[in-house]
Amino acid sequence: MKDEATPQKIPITKPFFGPEEEAAIRAPLHSGWVVQGPFVKEFEERFSAFTESPFSIATSSCTTALHIAVAALGLQPGDEVIVPAFTWISTANVVEYMGAKPVFCDIDLSTFNIDVAGIEELITPRTVGIIPVHLFGLCAEMQPILEIARKHGIWVVEDAACGFGARYHGKHAGTFGGMGCFSFHPRKSITTGEGGMIITQREDFDRLARTLRDHGASRSDLSRHTGEAGFLLSEYNHLGYNYRMTDIQGALGCAQMDRASWILKTRSQLADRYNRLLTGVEWLETPRVPHGFVHGYQAYVCLFRPEEPAMNNVDRLHRQRNELMMQLEAKGIATRQGTHAPVLQGYYTKKYALRTEQFPNAYLADRLGLTLPLYAQMTEAEQALVCQSLQQAKS
Ligand SMILES: Cc1ncc(COP(=O)(O)O)c(C=O)c1O
Repeated sequence: MKDEATPQKIPITKPFFGPEEEAAIRAPLHSGWVVQGPFVKEFEERFSAFTESPFSIATSSCTTALHIAVAALGLQPGDEVIVPAFTWISTANVVEYMGAKPVFCDIDLSTFNIDVAGIEELITPRTVGIIPVHLFGLCAEMQPILEIARKHGIWVVEDAACGFGARYHGKHAGTFGGMGCFSFHPRKSITTGEGGMIITQREDFDRLARTLRDHGASRSDLSRHTGEAGFLLSEYNHLGYNYRMTDIQGALGCAQMDRASWILKTRSQLADRYNRLLTGVEWLETPRVPHGFVHGYQAYVCLFRPEEPAMNNVDRLHRQRNELMMQLEAKGIATRQGTHAPVLQGYYTKKYALRTEQFPNAYLADRLGLTLPLYAQMTEAEQALVCQSLQQAKS
């Protein structure tokens, strides 16, 4: 295995687990109730309290959370949904799962989020919704997005996979649209291995989402087993899925919630320290945090920018960025591109005959994004080494 041959001194991220997490996951093993149950319920309640949203529904991933959200909204074949051109591919995939069409909007290169100025021209009579993404922990510009949605009578589902701890004018990511969907993949600030969460302000969405994650059942297994007439199965009036979170993950999630504020605060302090250490490094654009935004720092993603990037120099700059990443890898320091542009991936380019020139900023972000290691246990010495090695590699 590659990791054994070249041990990584500084990984891109590390979950923060301690004896509390180990003890937490033992509890469902001891009780024998390991499917969605009391710990998932507690995790949901704690997530609701943290994000100040009345309803939280845990799922097996953010992708399945998004799928449930668009299904609950009744997305139909032939409908169109606007999504950013630079995001993890599942933002668009969930639209495809429903037989609908994702319509890609280019991004603002300074925030990596959807370019609000480009949304309205993409709206057609078939447009039913927008899925803005709070990429890397920075909220999309929700106010204008909500205004556009209101004006055209379309829904908003927030892809808050990276949005834990992110705030926009005081409110937590995921609380603006009809539903907000989070990820607990290990690259995120808190993790349950795989896992996701839907939050919503609406009781009807809560009820439907709970049903859809559980095969369309009218009643959860826990309430059936702990209530009366548990010997009878539920009723199934909806086409649902098995997108449940296990109680082992729920217990892990509860233990992670105990640390959540500390993890977020520490990540934010580490990001501030990166900002200080990288001041004066002209060829690297560090994350911008516009006024009124709190960055959740799911990741610290910079733009490799030794000169003004454009379509005519991006391929050359891309090779330079990759060379830099290779040199860091040789020193045991992991870096990653930020995320990818689905508009460059074969499934979408072929199906919708997309051309790179339609999404110049998504292309630049895909080719020139540079993520630095970030995890709550990261030491000052590790951060200093990352910054020093970056500068050595560039010179
Ligand atoms: C923006 C975005 N959306 C969706 C997802 C999918 O999350 P999950 O892996 O939990 O399905 C991710 C995962 O990284 C993401 O970054």
